[in-house]
Amino acid sequence: MAINSTSNDQQRRAFIAGASAGIGRALALRLARLGWQVVISSRRQAALDEIVAEDASLTPYLLARAADVTDVDALRTAFDNAEAEIGAIDTLVLNAGDYDPMRLDEFDPALFDRLMRVNFLGAVNGIAAAMPRMRERGAGQILVTASVAGYRGLPQAAAYGASKAAVLNMAEALKPEVDATGVRLRVINPGFVRTQLTAKNDFTMPQLITPEQAADYITREIDGSHFEIVFPKRFGWTLKLLRMLPYRLYFAITRRMLG
Ligand SMILES: NC(=O)c1ccc[n+]([C@@H]2O[C@H](COP(=O)([O-])OP(=O)(O)OC[C@H]3O[C@@H](n4cnc5c(N)ncnc54)[C@H](OP(=O)(O)O)[C@@H]3O)[C@@H](O)[C@H]2O)c1
Repeated sequence: MAINSTSNDQQRRAFIAGASAGIGRALALRLARLGWQVVISSRRQAALDEIVAEDASLTPYLLARAADVTDVDALRTAFDNAEAEIGAIDTLVLNAGDYDPMRLDEFDPALFDRLMRVNFLGAVNGIAAAMPRMRERGAGQILVTASVAGYRGLPQAAAYGASKAAVLNMAEALKPEVDATGVRLRVINPGFVRTQLTAKNDFTMPQLITPEQAADYITREIDGSHFEIVFPKRFGWTLKLLRMLPYRLYFAITRRMLG
């Protein structure tokens, strides 16, 4: 399916990696409804094509292009081709993610490897794919989806949390230099969102929201100037307070989470 090509300079264009499901899918549909042209990307072309076909009124605004974020060349090609087809992308959302909880008796280097490749190196690859073009234009923004789980170590999330902490640290490290180029680098830190990813959790998730609510939060702040888009707000603040606790108090709390 092809997007209506336009030379209108006011046209907003987004590329969302990790858009076939969950938060990325909801965000893509939300932006398309607002008139953005949205390139939806993930590994599964068929799943992306289904989204494009789902609602005929949105079909002209969506372009489905498969790419695996662990493959920097594939991602670069997808991004370059998308720009050649529809014009300059002003907003790149690096949202592809993977998760599995891990207890100590399941400690497995293969899980660390898998989650680091998608969650952390996938974000690295996305920045590598888009930054040269955005930098040349001196415009555009890159939003990387991390997680409040990246703030501090949480039980059962050693592999996932470490991959998201790496994303946050990388983005913080790059931001001052990126700022000087005219490009904006920002992070999205969701709390719990009901998706196939969190369906793996066997505990009650506090302040759980829907992907559509997550898309609302992101859309509201998509043109904001804050480095971080965090939601739901109360949960975000709670996790920020936990981040400030000394170890003795922090571990007293996280020990109780083991149940
Ligand atoms: N749900 C939550 O509570 C929550 C909380 C904090 C942060 N997050 C983060 O938010 C993001 C979206 O999560 P979600 O809950 O919406 O998950 P989801 O429903 O499982 O969606 C994940 C998306 O990533 C894509 N993906 C996975 N591996 C990929 C790869 N190697 N290359 C390209 N695309 C890939 C998947 O598509 P394909 O399978 O088609 O490739 C899918 O579109 C993730 O980064 C996640 O870590 C989620």
